[in-house]
Amino acid sequence: MEPVNYEKHCADCHTLQFDRRFDEPAPHKEPKIVYEFVVKKLTDYVAAHPREIPLVDEPNKRLPSRPPQPPARNAAEWVQQRLADAQLLLWRKSCKECHLLSYPNGPDALPEVAKAAITTRWLPHAEFEHQAHQLLACTSCHTKATTSKETADVLIPGIQVCRECHHSGSDAAEARCFECHGYHDWSKEKRVTGTFTIPN
Ligand code: HEC
Ligand code: HEC
Ligand code: HEC
Ligand code: HEC
Ligand code: HEC
Repeated sequence: MEPVNYEKHCADCHTLQFDRRFDEPAPHKEPKIVYEFVVKKLTDYVAAHPREIPLVDEPNKRLPSRPPQPPARNAAEWVQQRLADAQLLLWRKSCKECHLLSYPNGPDALPEVAKAAITTRWLPHAEFEHQAHQLLACTSCHTKATTSKETADVLIPGIQVCRECHHSGSDAAEARCFECHGYHDWSKEKRVTGTFTIPN
């Protein structure tokens, strides 16, 4: 199974939109890159639309508790005001939905995103292929999949589930160790270049 990927599997619904003036979402990168992108977008926008500087934005429905900002006096202040809202929306709302953010440099500095560490193999010490188990219903192994409500639930079966079929007896799946374990780690195989050859 392929690990999940934000751009491919999540971005369509969970966009990183940060300001109604722009359709283009923020990049899905480290906070520093996101921050620089947002600053550039806002700075370019106000340079192209200087008449909007004294205008007050309509209240942002995605930030209901945020009081309206006073009219900006210059372009820099305009950018600072929108930047503050965009950061609230991104760090305190969007990213936070999926990531654990920490603020080691203080609550007003950029957050740090904890490593995603998406697992590709859950049972690294045994072989498992879905291919050989295609005749089974998914829920016979992933028993809690239909009732799970928490994103933190791990729905991978443990070895006791394997033993329901892989046990001794003639009407059971293979239970000898080689079925699921490799005896030799072939990735560590060394090529031998000997000095003798076999004549043919
Ligand atoms: C088809 C649309 C769609 C896709 C694709 C999607 N989501 Fe969601 N997701 C939603 C909706 C709708 C909610 C509920 C939003 C809410 O409650 O505010 C949600 C909520 C969430 C939550 C919050 C759940 C909670 O317990 O509070 C997380 C985390 C999440 N999604 C992660 C992801 C990840 C990771 C991906 C990609 C692997 C993804 N989503 C792909 C629509 C989607
Ligand atoms: C809908 C869920 C979702 C949202 C919202 C989301 N991310 Fe992610 N993010 C993921 C997933 C899933 C991964 C791991 C797979 C990948 O890189 O696509 C990831 C990976 C990352 C990584 C790489 C982490 C690593 O360990 O290599 C960074 C950095 C990151 N996200 C930053 C952000 C920032 C900043 C935001 C907000 C602006 C954000 N993400 C919003 C789901 C999300
Ligand atoms: C015989 C038991 C069994 C059956 C049946 C089974 N799975 Fe799995 N599945 C597993 C095991 C074991 C793993 C973990 C393998 C590993 O990574 O080491 C897994 C992993 C997965 C993963 C990866 C989860 C992740 O977070 O990386 C997905 C998705 C999945 N199964 C979906 C399915 C679906 C869909 C079906 C039905 C078509 C199915 N499985 C049938 C045992 C089973
Ligand atoms: C049907 C598949 C299957 C068979 C057959 C099987 N095992 Fe396992 N074994 C597993 C799984 C699954 C795990 C858990 C792997 C993990 O958590 O990464 C495991 C774990 C182990 C571990 C612990 C490995 C570790 O590093 O923690 C040992 C030791 C082990 N098996 C030995 C054996 C021996 C000896 C036999 C033969 C008598 C055997 N197994 C037969 C599936 C099997
Ligand atoms: C509901 C029955 C069932 C369960 C549960 C089950 N298996 Fe199997 N498994 C089979 C059958 C049937 C075969 C194919 C016949 C055989 O090899 O004896 C098979 C084949 C395999 C193979 C050989 C794949 C190949 O390509 O040759 C491995 C490895 C394996 N299973 C591991 C596991 C592990 C690990 C688990 C637990 C996570 C598990 N199985 C759970 C029934 C099951």
